[in-house]
Amino acid sequence: MSERQLQTNIKGLTGEIEVPGDKSISHRAVMFGALAEGKTTIHHFLAGEDCLSTIACFQQLGVAIRREGDYVEVDGKGLHGLKEPIGVLDVGNSGTTTRLMLGILAGVPIHTTLIGDDSIAKRPMGRVTVPLRSMGAKIDGREHGQFTPLSVRGGELKSIHYHSPVASAQVKSAIILAGLQAQGITKVTEPFTSRDHTERMLQAFGATIDIDQTTVSVQGGQRLKATAVYVPGDISSAAFFLAAGAIAPNSCIVLKNVGLNPTRTGIIDVLKQMGAQLTITNERVQNGEPIGDLTVETSELKGIEIGGDLIPRLIDEIPIISLLATQAHGKTVIKDAEELKVKETNRIDTVAIELTKLGADITTTADGLIIQGRTSLVSEHVQVDSHGDHRIGMMLAIAALVTSGDMKLKRSEAIHVSYPQFFEHVEVLSQ
Ligand code: S3P
Repeated sequence: MSERQLQTNIKGLTGEIEVPGDKSISHRAVMFGALAEGKTTIHHFLAGEDCLSTIACFQQLGVAIRREGDYVEVDGKGLHGLKEPIGVLDVGNSGTTTRLMLGILAGVPIHTTLIGDDSIAKRPMGRVTVPLRSMGAKIDGREHGQFTPLSVRGGELKSIHYHSPVASAQVKSAIILAGLQAQGITKVTEPFTSRDHTERMLQAFGATIDIDQTTVSVQGGQRLKATAVYVPGDISSAAFFLAAGAIAPNSCIVLKNVGLNPTRTGIIDVLKQMGAQLTITNERVQNGEPIGDLTVETSELKGIEIGGDLIPRLIDEIPIISLLATQAHGKTVIKDAEELKVKETNRIDTVAIELTKLGADITTTADGLIIQGRTSLVSEHVQVDSHGDHRIGMMLAIAALVTSGDMKLKRSEAIHVSYPQFFEHVEVLSQ
């Protein structure tokens, strides 16, 4: 467990960076590449711990995968080529690896066991094991398959129409991936549209996917063909520097080649509504995913209300939005965000506990947070804690930049899950 002295009291943030590749897209590129026929190449892959867990799991399933920095080659095995591993599959801290792999393994006639870290052991897996069982998958595990360790004996699957109670791309993707291997047409309907990278990327791999509002349908038995995937910068990583540029004094930051998929851009809508000076340039489409460059400058912010169908479009950004709210004038209300309780940590609690240490005026509610701004955050000999959650760790490191004093971050290594170069980028931009 490492403790890190954080940079505080910066004079400004200026310059240009390219944030690492998108985590959701990097996972899917490896997974779909493994299931495709032929060699898939992945460019600007996120070599963070979560995506490395996905690579390691597929290597254990007999897929040849080579990586050099952010370039990856996957020798696809086709839909029926995965081999039974000798050991257990370790998903580390990664919910996406666990849930999407369950969907894949449900249809493969081998036995596998999935384990992960202490955080994964607390995350609800019933939301995928229940629908996958109704397709015919044999899955067992702790508390009747609600939690890891989980073991899967895959086999023949039948199609279903699943109405998911939550807007979750991990649930939707697990069912689509099982549906690709099932007899007939599998459908998933969600209450609001969650991120749609699976739908977009499966089409890039040659599959036909039908999308009708919040329902996605897939015909079983379709073959995937290898392709080249160019991974855009992760907007969820960019969010930390968008916020930093808006709240730090004398700042102007340019973030190049950031993914702007509309199912992920809730943070841009929120920043604009709060009054941030944010511009998007060089917009284009790469590999079926919109991307562009973002410029943000020091801004006067005001509090807003965030809820409803906006929540799935910014669910991972709520920790950093909470920090923004402490620096905005007036009240910010975040509601309809119960899902925060089942992320890498209970983010309603961890956001409130840690920002309160810095003097923020923040209250937890059953489905979100209420933050009263603006407060000058203080960090006189404060030790903050990531709680092992990468996004809490990065939010606190950005908070430190606008405090004066002395601030240490416990469990700072969690940041490697999604943004290994995070502190280098803070350094590059700091004056
Ligand atoms: C992800 C979906 C989201 C998100 C997670 C990545 C994905 O989770 O929070 O970081 O890659 O599909 P849910 O699907 O559980 O909302």
